[in-house]
Amino acid sequence: MALAARTRAVLLVVALSVLGLATGGVAQLKNGFYTGKCGTNDVETIVQGLVKARVARDAAIVAQLLRLQFHECAINGCDAGLLVDGPRTEKTAKPNLSVKGYDLIAAIKTELEKRCPGVVSCSDIEILATRDAVALAGGQRYAVRTGRRDRRQSSATDVRLPKEEDTAAQAASYFGSLGFTELDMVVLLGAHTVGVTHCIKIKKTRLYSYGGKPNSTDPNLDPSDAAVYKKFVCPNTASSDNNILYLDTQSSVSRIDNSYYKRLQGRHGVLSVDQNLYANGASTKKHVDNLANNVIDFSSLFPKALIKLSELKVLTGTHGEVRKLGNEMALAARTRAVLLVVALSVLGLATGGVAQLKNGFYTGKCGANDVETIVQGLVKARVSRDAAIVAQLLRLQFHECAVNVRVTILVLAIAS
Ligand code: HEM
Repeated sequence: MALAARTRAVLLVVALSVLGLATGGVAQLKNGFYTGKCGTNDVETIVQGLVKARVARDAAIVAQLLRLQFHECAINGCDAGLLVDGPRTEKTAKPNLSVKGYDLIAAIKTELEKRCPGVVSCSDIEILATRDAVALAGGQRYAVRTGRRDRRQSSATDVRLPKEEDTAAQAASYFGSLGFTELDMVVLLGAHTVGVTHCIKIKKTRLYSYGGKPNSTDPNLDPSDAAVYKKFVCPNTASSDNNILYLDTQSSVSRIDNSYYKRLQGRHGVLSVDQNLYANGASTKKHVDNLANNVIDFSSLFPKALIKLSELKVLTGTHGEVRKLGNEMALAARTRAVLLVVALSVLGLATGGVAQLKNGFYTGKCGANDVETIVQGLVKARVSRDAAIVAQLLRLQFHECAVNVRVTILVLAIAS
């Protein structure tokens, strides 16, 4: 039998709010979103202070944060999905196993939670921290719009990232699918002006088995670089797999500058994907020349490209949540689905049946109060701090009603 209009409306509201999908208007990102929201604290200054202290004792964090932002934002947008611990989350996907910098994001989150609990999202922290790290490494400082919220899902199967041996065309197709132009991509790859890679990323593809041919070396790699790599850094034994190679010259490897592009002109690019930007016939070659020769200005384009990356598919307004801990979602999707069933059953919407019961029985019987909304609010508050209540209520209802067949079937269907 069709549900009454009011029941359907209540059902929809409960479903949407329980599932965290209620819209209430998607607020946009804005500069200074946190101004006045964290007591007397200035959120951006706090983030900057913590990043500065870290960079001072560990310059590698700059590269780690840049890579983290790329791997974060390219997969379902900048939603802190990469931070979540647990089986089969984004973090566990192969390309993310070598991502670092999580500890700094967690430390910043802890500090901000102390000062204003539940206010600053982990996704905003990632973006602010990267911005500060870039500026501390000689990059241009840029304004970051904030107000991102954290996604309630994170799945390893969503992780699709380009490969280190991709051609320029393959990489451009990937970046194109995210809305980036070819120039944007060449500028973003300029992030490889800092940081390191590992021998395993080039041993097979560039040093010892180029094009699948044994003993073949990539002719697009400067021969003296290849000789040094083979002899000293990445000898052809498994034990060298995790040895480190600087992506830029050692003297510039902690500086955000355009030397990466100059290196490509001299065939010193370390990863194939880097050197491929300068391959003969590649449409990206002219961009590399322009960036290397300052015809176009890397220092101003890099922030613009990072801002574009930082605003990919963000959640704002009432979408998602502000996590208490960056690495833990408040509720897994499945728990929320079970919660929905419990909420419905508590509200008496899923049972139906008995003739004397009716929808909205309490309407007008409790002064100006809406009984169902009050119940829903209390259930929601409790679940957000104690997910075990879901199971407890389910069991309670079962023991109370001596098997409510309809709800039980629904729960089993969702949980399966
Ligand atoms: C076609 C696109 C890209 C590919 C195939 C690629 C691939 C890689 C690989 C294989 C590494 C070395 C990982 C390791 O050995 O552990 C790396 C490092 C790095 N990537 Fe990319 N990357 C790409 C784009 C980007 C973008 C867009 C950014 C940032 C905006 C970025 C930032 C970095 C940084 C900073 C490092 C050094 C990390 C560190 O030192 O810890 N990459 N990348």
